[in-house]
Amino acid sequence: MSAIRILRGVYRGKTIKNQCFTLVSGFQTGPKGGYVTIANNGSLGKNLPDNIRVLVDAISDYEMVNGDTVEQNKPAARVAAFVVETEEQAMTRIRERFEILTEMSKACIGGDIRAMIVSGPPGVGKSHGVEQEIEKATLFDKIAGKRLRAEVVKGSATPIGLYQALYKYSDPNCVLVFDDCDSILLDDVCLNLLKGALDSGKKRKISWLSESSTLRREGIPDSFDFKGSVIFITNLKFDKMKSQKLRDHLDALQSRCHYLDLTLDTMRDKILRIKQIAKDGVLFADYDFEPETQDTIFEFMEKNQDRLREMSLRMALKIADLRKLSPDNWRRLAETTCMKAAD
Ligand SMILES: Nc1ncnc2c1ncn2[C@@H]1O[C@H](COP(=O)(O)OP(=O)(O)OP(=O)(O)O)[C@@H](O)[C@H]1O
Ligand SMILES: [Mg+2]
Repeated sequence: MSAIRILRGVYRGKTIKNQCFTLVSGFQTGPKGGYVTIANNGSLGKNLPDNIRVLVDAISDYEMVNGDTVEQNKPAARVAAFVVETEEQAMTRIRERFEILTEMSKACIGGDIRAMIVSGPPGVGKSHGVEQEIEKATLFDKIAGKRLRAEVVKGSATPIGLYQALYKYSDPNCVLVFDDCDSILLDDVCLNLLKGALDSGKKRKISWLSESSTLRREGIPDSFDFKGSVIFITNLKFDKMKSQKLRDHLDALQSRCHYLDLTLDTMRDKILRIKQIAKDGVLFADYDFEPETQDTIFEFMEKNQDRLREMSLRMALKIADLRKLSPDNWRRLAETTCMKAAD
């Protein structure tokens, strides 16, 4: 059985903070809002049922705990025996995920992998990680003497726009990146084109069967073999999609792609990621901050973690801008522009 730590939750009017339990079933929503079901371990009161629903606002209000264990008949001991991931271990886990992102991006660029989906919360460095590898590859022209051709498509694309883009980048030395282009993942025609383009057979033929003057004008044939690679970057969590129809569709795409979930879902992980990038000396490189100034920014972010509109590298950069703009008044500026109104 899995173990979780509830970071913030409510049971029968009582607040639960940072307590570990055995998970019975994950986040669901009911008439009272979101909840997670845990096994009664005796710590929440007497004469309670075996399974207890704790109200939580979102999935991010609890996290999985590694190393859950032992002694089935002694629930209290089970709680005590949870191995809580240290900050250092979490940092290593997060760093590894981003190393994998780099490796997989390289493999896609080199044509060793034909497709990858990168999923993760906003502002944690998904686009940055992929774009950096593309820039490197373009700059040094490493790809077996062949020039890499890459394009990052952001925003939305129509089915015919997607067909055109796939054609333009259909050679083996091409990479197409769809960054935050969720509309193509949610459209039937687009998904069917992508399924054809990324199929696992030797030939990946895709066709546009209806008459199109746009294609004719641009000299694009109504079918061709796609030999390039594709990277999707998205905030969608494929396995958590609610609509069954959509999930079936996305499953078909996921089965053709390597799927990398960066799993930075808890507040703690996001804060650690920000600290990690800052520690590496790259996040605030353009600001010339003293180390103490960096620390005050982190302190501010940690203290106000529940009020900030999001916890991300992007938010850290926004606050750094304000600090630079107004060394005396930046906290007030940040409160006004970066935070949700107090309840
Ligand atoms: N490794 C890094 N080193 C320095 N800066 C970084 C790094 N990763 C990300 N950043 C900076 O953090 C900000 C957010 O990163 P990025 O745009 O890649 O996030 P994202 O995960 O793609 O977010 P979204 O889902 O909203 O598109 C950018 O300004 C980027 O330059
Ligand atoms: Mg992005």
